[in-house]
Amino acid sequence: MFRLQGCSALVTGASSGLGEEFARQLAPAARCLVLVARRGERLEALAAQLAGRHPDLRVLVEVADLGREPERLALVRRLADEGVEPDLLVNNAGMGDYGEFAGADWAKVDAMLQLNVVALTHLARLLLPPMLAGGRGAILNVSSLAGEFPIPDFAVYAASKAYVSSLSEALRIETRRSGVNVVALCPGPVSTEFGEVARRGGEAARPPGGRLMYTSAPRVVRAGLEAAERNRPRVFPGFPVFLLAAVAGALPKAAVRAIMGTRPKAAPRTGGPGATL
Ligand SMILES: NC(=O)c1ccc[n+]([C@@H]2O[C@H](COP(=O)([O-])OP(=O)(O)OC[C@H]3O[C@@H](n4cnc5c(N)ncnc54)[C@H](OP(=O)(O)O)[C@@H]3O)[C@@H](O)[C@H]2O)c1
Repeated sequence: MFRLQGCSALVTGASSGLGEEFARQLAPAARCLVLVARRGERLEALAAQLAGRHPDLRVLVEVADLGREPERLALVRRLADEGVEPDLLVNNAGMGDYGEFAGADWAKVDAMLQLNVVALTHLARLLLPPMLAGGRGAILNVSSLAGEFPIPDFAVYAASKAYVSSLSEALRIETRRSGVNVVALCPGPVSTEFGEVARRGGEAARPPGGRLMYTSAPRVVRAGLEAAERNRPRVFPGFPVFLLAAVAGALPKAAVRAIMGTRPKAAPRTGGPGATL
């Protein structure tokens, strides 16, 4: 059975937002933490802080652009060299692109797909077999409430998260009774750097959903870690988010289409300056 206590966790996107919070909440329980992102100085600062507070914790900083396959492979090779075999993969790194699809900057869309879809899938493919061999572990895929709907002005992001939720459900069935838990964490809006990264400029920096839908990062992360340990298939932290997901699941497609069609446009019709195909 998977337990957070004494686990060896790899957290992607640990340099800010939910990933940093995952690292903070895992630190008191974990034996080893691997922090991955591109901004190494942030990871180093977090690692020093966590190691200072938890002297028995081993913290590794791994600077990698997970959107690039060679960097993912090199990361896993370095872990093997260090003798680290993660039994918890927190597939958290992700990004959005806020605005109409037709005006999107292809480089940004491509980077989003590489990160949200390809990197998440590849890391699961690389780390799942050793977990299965050991008969225990957990993969916590950070999906989103956005994966439950088709979202105009957030089309590719929402589709990427629908992929993450679907993949997680299927892997969960494939790995049942193996001792490895596969969980999709589906938050609604959370205040992190996500909105700033998703913006194209010109539009309001607000993710879909009003203030009521916001959940704090500590609460989201707590719910995700609890779900990983208890082997829950999907978790929607915060009551309004849970309710919206339940309603969305019960509505006919035609009703969802009609509701999403009423969303006010939050972004300019074109991608604005710098938009390239
Ligand atoms: N915030 C929300 O409203 C919300 C809601 C639902 C789901 N989510 C999901 O939650 C997850 C975490 O997002 P967040 O809200 O914490 O956003 P965030 O504050 O922007 O954090 C994103 C993290 O991903 C890392 N990252 C981005 N591109 C990367 C790359 N190519 N290679 C490696 N790491 C990369 C970033 O680090 P570097 O820039 O240093 O590489 C950063 O640590 C995402 O999957 C997001 O889709 C967020």
